[in-house]
Amino acid sequence: MIKGLDHVAIAVKDLDETLKFYLDTFGFNGNEVEHETVEEQGVKACLIPLGNCYLELLEPLGPETTVGRFIAREGEKLHHICFESDDVQAELTRVANLGLDLIDKTPRRGLAGMIGFLHPRSTRGILIELVQKVTHEGGVVAATVEGRRIRILIAKPGLDGHDRGAKVVARALRDAGMEVIYTGIRQSPDMITEAALQEDVDAIGLSILSGAHMELCPRLLNLMKQKGLEDIPLFLGGIIPDEDIPVLQKMGIKGIFGPGTPTSKIIEFVKSLPIKR
Ligand code: CO
Repeated sequence: MIKGLDHVAIAVKDLDETLKFYLDTFGFNGNEVEHETVEEQGVKACLIPLGNCYLELLEPLGPETTVGRFIAREGEKLHHICFESDDVQAELTRVANLGLDLIDKTPRRGLAGMIGFLHPRSTRGILIELVQKVTHEGGVVAATVEGRRIRILIAKPGLDGHDRGAKVVARALRDAGMEVIYTGIRQSPDMITEAALQEDVDAIGLSILSGAHMELCPRLLNLMKQKGLEDIPLFLGGIIPDEDIPVLQKMGIKGIFGPGTPTSKIIEFVKSLPIKR
């Protein structure tokens, strides 16, 4: 079954320059953009999260790569679209039985999960990719509550500007099939409460590296209570001294994760939360 659009990919000559164009022109949040280089596919890529899906920019690593040859032939333009499926193998078999030509007869590992491409000569000129989201251990995930995706707010309160950890967690939860909204750095408890309310999220993850967790957490919990959001579980990542952990748990923080926690552990934790609809 096709669940939705996962990404739209555009082949570009200069990734940084094109990314700047999209951020400046459309005001997309540059904080959330993820960069990856995949040598074996001959591309440098970035993913711009757009709600449920991504805009992907692909820059070839050389003229003899697949994307390099594509640009030489067609110029910079739309390269492919990707649908998310819950079972890529079943979908490839199904469309092959309809008489369509496939590039991949069986799924393989790609940037976005287990992927398979259909040949554009069978799909009216559009290169179509299918993706099935997988966890980092390779297990297929379904991060839904009553058929709706879990929505998580990842927020970074306080003054520290290091948000690599927050971005890694946001990306991992998104790859696990959740909808993730990332606030960017230096958010006040007021801003976070407002975002949680507006985005109707199921849980909030905080990243605090500044050491101000004992001050920020109670302020946020208070504001959430004032707005009737006390049922939304709050979890915390950062450098948290051992003696603070029981105090934070007593306050109502549902999960506390130190530096270097595997993202799989955080995914499992979020999926185990008692999410109310
Ligand atoms: Co793709």
